[in-house]
Amino acid sequence: MLQIDQLMRSFGKVRAVDGISMSVPPGELRALIGPNGAGKSTLFSLVTGHLQPEQGTIAFDGRRIERMRPAARARLGIAITFQSVHLFQGMTSLENVMVGAHSWTRHEFVEAAFRLPRHFREESRIRERARAALAEAGLERWAATRAESLPLGKQRALQIARALCGNPRLLLLDEPAAGLRGEERRELGALLADLHAQGLTMLLVEHDIGFVCDVADRVTVLDMGRVIAEGTPEQVREDEAVVAAYLGSVTADDAPGSR
Ligand SMILES: Nc1ncnc2c1ncn2[C@@H]1O[C@H](COP(=O)(O)OP(=O)(O)O)[C@@H](O)[C@H]1O
Ligand SMILES: [Mg+2]
Repeated sequence: MLQIDQLMRSFGKVRAVDGISMSVPPGELRALIGPNGAGKSTLFSLVTGHLQPEQGTIAFDGRRIERMRPAARARLGIAITFQSVHLFQGMTSLENVMVGAHSWTRHEFVEAAFRLPRHFREESRIRERARAALAEAGLERWAATRAESLPLGKQRALQIARALCGNPRLLLLDEPAAGLRGEERRELGALLADLHAQGLTMLLVEHDIGFVCDVADRVTVLDMGRVIAEGTPEQVREDEAVVAAYLGSVTADDAPGSR
């Protein structure tokens, strides 16, 4: 479903992504791990089109996408939930999720659907899809709640619901469990497992190796913009290069829940 070949992207002298190749088959939940600055978020931005590569190719479902605009990639079914919470304050959960419909509505700005009478029919379609996405994320009860008043765990689920409203075929999750503990962390894991069981292809960035091993089929380990290991969670946990580069040197800043 996703085929990345020799991808390169620098910022000044920093080679954030330095020749990464990897491929993710349909239906897989692939984890992407590595220390801070390894290039995980940059790789995501290259896949969504928010950044352009200097070299290399990205194919989605056999089609080259590395020069496409982000909106075109979203229409093909690539969705992302960002590392920091991006929600519209003052809008309800349902309205926040409706924004995710931009990938399939004919209107460039979904906001138009909230205001102009001729968009009423479109609005009801969007509302229906958004309600279903909220339900998938276990948030029906909070449909009318303002997004900013939800606890962090629910805000993270809400970001996922918004992505689901875009009918994604590939979902990129950038540290969705950061800052979550205990029950909230377990609930998020259960939501990812649910989406996985439904066959959604996902790429998950997450620092907590325990969390990763519970949900991921395979793990790709990045360090300094390169792939240093790839395999099942068990294989990767035993890989000496991984232990040296990552597991052996987890700093306070990398610790689960620190951000
Ligand atoms: N917009 C940017 N401008 C300059 N440097 C950046 C930018 N984005 C990322 N970098 C640098 O690229 C490297 C990889 O960053 P990033 O992809 O955010 O890593 P990760 O998500 O694995 O922590 C880091 O050295 C970071 O400082
Ligand atoms: Mg990052």
